[in-house]
Formats: sequence, structure tokens, C-alpha cells
Amino acid sequence: MNKISNFKKQKGKNKLAVLTAYDYTFARLIDKAGADAVLVGDSLGMVVLGHAGTRRVTMADMLRCTEAVSNGTKQALIVADLPFNSYSTPAQTVSNGKKLISAGAQAVKLEGGVEAVSQIKALVKAGIPVMAHVGLLPQSVKSKKDFKVKGKDAKQAARILKDAIAVEQAGAFAVVLECVPALLARLITEKISIPTVGIGAGPYCDGQVLVMHDMLGLNEDFKPKFVKHFGTAAHAVRGAFKQYVDEAKAGVFPSAEHSFSIDEKVLEKIK
Ligand code: KIV
Repeated sequence: MNKISNFKKQKGKNKLAVLTAYDYTFARLIDKAGADAVLVGDSLGMVVLGHAGTRRVTMADMLRCTEAVSNGTKQALIVADLPFNSYSTPAQTVSNGKKLISAGAQAVKLEGGVEAVSQIKALVKAGIPVMAHVGLLPQSVKSKKDFKVKGKDAKQAARILKDAIAVEQAGAFAVVLECVPALLARLITEKISIPTVGIGAGPYCDGQVLVMHDMLGLNEDFKPKFVKHFGTAAHAVRGAFKQYVDEAKAGVFPSAEHSFSIDEKVLEKIK
């Protein structure tokens, strides 16, 4: 069965686990851990490039990272984000979607509900599977303080439900629900037939996605309510770097164990 049908078929049966990755090494580890999908997220703008948001991420950034992730991924479905300003018209969307597929993605993700319907339909018509993304839309956020939960009042909640229904009807095979109240995510999950993948959307979604750097605890200063640290990677990595610096400076590393030998007679010949 193809990966998209398999992903869709899990709704109501098995919960889906998705993580972001941006390079070969981590994609390989995530794939081996059994994740259902690896998302090459434009969150790379923040966690890899150090920008305040995702709006400066380019198609070139996404293509390079998608290629690296696809080199490390065997089992999981590879989904790549269409970055800001890369899907303004249906024609531009299909052209950039095809580039991501050529770089190794098996599906693309774009942000937006009702307003993204023509782009989703165009991608689906071109044979490119689409994961939609509603609720908090990071590409619409201009400053860090705007990363806030969406859909707490009736007007916004109704809008997000309408968006989720619209992307399903447009042909998306799944939809990310970002930063919405858990009970709203439950209602949406019940109302639509495609899997919902939550981030900051509580336990009732069909699956979950987290940014790899966040769940590993690589940035100790960043711990929003919806993130759980499944590791203390910053501590472990910093400790290893510190030990290397200390040993290199003290001349303890490299020892004979980490050095190559040569017959002294060879050296005699060149003296
Ligand atoms: O870019 C990203 O990592 C995402 C997730 C937050 C869903 O879109």
C-alpha cells in the first residue's frame, strides 16, 4: 500500500507520530525510531538558521534539507513544507510542489484553510499529496509574541473548523492543527475523515507532531506549554563539547589510540 493511503488509514486505528527533521543524520534516527512521517518543516528557519520566524525560509533552503532528509529516510513518509511566498498562485504552488517532490518529498505541506483551497486542489490535480495546516499559521506571524493559541472564542473556533472542512474537501490527505484548544481539536477530529496531526492541540488528534529540537531539549530556553522534553540533549551535547575542548587544550586528546602509526624506517628515508 502506498505511504499516503497507509497514513490515512491509521485514523481511528493507530495514533500517528510525526517529527521534524532537516538533515540526513537526524532523519535516519527518526526513521529508525518508527515515526510515521518526517516533516521537513520550515521551522528550520528558527531552529537551524536562527531567525525569529519562518518567513525568511526559501525554496532553496527547503530543497537542500528535503534532499538530505530523503537520503536518511527509508520507511517514514516524507512531507516537506512549501515556504512563505512559494504558493501565492495555483501555478506557482504546483511548480514549487514538483520541485520538492523531485528533491525527495512524497507530500507537501502548506499553511491555510479556506484561502488555500485553490492551491490544494491544484496540487492534488497534479498528483502531489497535500498535508494542510490550520489554526496557528507560523508564516502569518510577524513577531514572536504572536505565537499564541487560536480558536478560544466562538468566531475563531468556527473559522478553524470551517478551514479544516475546506482543506479536507479540497483533497488534503491530512491536516496539522497548531495551537488550538484540545476540545476544539477533538471536535474537528470527529468531524473530518482525514487524520488530524496536532501540535499544541491536545491528546484527541489522530497524531502528533513536534519540532525535533524542541522535544530533544536542544534549546533549554524554549519550553512552551505544549512541548515535552523527551531528552536533555543540550546538557549531553554541551558536556561532550566541553570535554573535547578541555582534552584538546590539555593535549589529552588524541592519544595513541586515536593516532595512525608509521614504520620509523619510512621516516628515516625522508629525513
Ligand atoms: O515547520 C514546522 O515544523 C511545522 C510544524 C510546527 C507542524 O509546520
